[in-house]
Amino acid sequence: MTTTTAVTVRVPAKVNLQLAVGPAREDGYHDLVNVFHAVALFDEVTVTGARTRATGGPAGISAEDAGPGPASHIDRVPLDASNLAWRAAELLASETREAPGSRARKPVHLHLRKAIPVAGGMAGGSADAAAALVACNAFWGTGLDRDRLRDLAARLGSDVAFPLVGGTAVGTGRGEVLTPARCAGRLHWVFALSEGGLSTPEVFGAYDRLRPGAPAPQGDPVLMAALAEGDARAVGAALGNDLQPAALALRPALAETLQAGRAAGALGAFVSGSGPTCAFLAESAAHADAVAEAVRAAPDCAHAVTSYGDVPGASVV
Ligand code: C5P
Repeated sequence: MTTTTAVTVRVPAKVNLQLAVGPAREDGYHDLVNVFHAVALFDEVTVTGARTRATGGPAGISAEDAGPGPASHIDRVPLDASNLAWRAAELLASETREAPGSRARKPVHLHLRKAIPVAGGMAGGSADAAAALVACNAFWGTGLDRDRLRDLAARLGSDVAFPLVGGTAVGTGRGEVLTPARCAGRLHWVFALSEGGLSTPEVFGAYDRLRPGAPAPQGDPVLMAALAEGDARAVGAALGNDLQPAALALRPALAETLQAGRAAGALGAFVSGSGPTCAFLAESAAHADAVAEAVRAAPDCAHAVTSYGDVPGASVV
């Protein structure tokens, strides 16, 4: 029998093209209509065998900055069992340890090579968890299919299932029930990264205070049609994020970053997810370079990167 010594999985960041948020539920979550779009900013998770622990599952975790700029915040990545990638490996091990032929008793080390901004509203932690599921599934030979992995992902967090799938997809429920959507052509993006992060629960909390009695979230057929037709201008006009006023209330300086992108002719300018990263849709790769240059001058912008979407989900490299 051949023994796998290392598995590396590459996983994309996401931006939310629409984030419609309903009122707070009894369980503290919010019903969403969340249009996820995977973009070409990738983390890599490598799983290797660890010699240190007999009981199996994750035994260690390390992280390395492969980020495009100074705002990657690698020091904020927890290097212990609280990291979502560690919890993903733990969950997969606990679900599969008893299966015939499973190597999930073998302890592993997880290494994260991070280019997705940390605490930036681009689901980097969730992407790492999705990648850890795929990598450990291959390393241990546990052979769960994508549907089983998606179920485990949804138990780990609202944004973990999407990076398994990639492309463009509509998330409902608390965001974890996914329906793939068509995105024709390539969309060109600029992401403006901030020095500090924003806490997702705090942004949802501010949303509840700003919009008591919010209506049930609705999808936007105009956006979905624009994506299917590959009409970037119409996509730009239909982008929307209900959390944006809350993110701006917590971090008013983001308004200037958004304005700088609009002044440079961005087709759309909005806060990505719960922020603080701001996203801009450009007409072309060259226009994206010009928008990036313009938003770098905004006081709150620590760095700006260009990218494109959509791209496929987590895959072994
Ligand atoms: O599911 P996840 O752990 O990623 O969610 C992080 C936090 O974001 C939750 O604890 C909750 O405060 C908020 N959230 C929410 N409604 C959702 C998803 C997330 O209120 N649908």
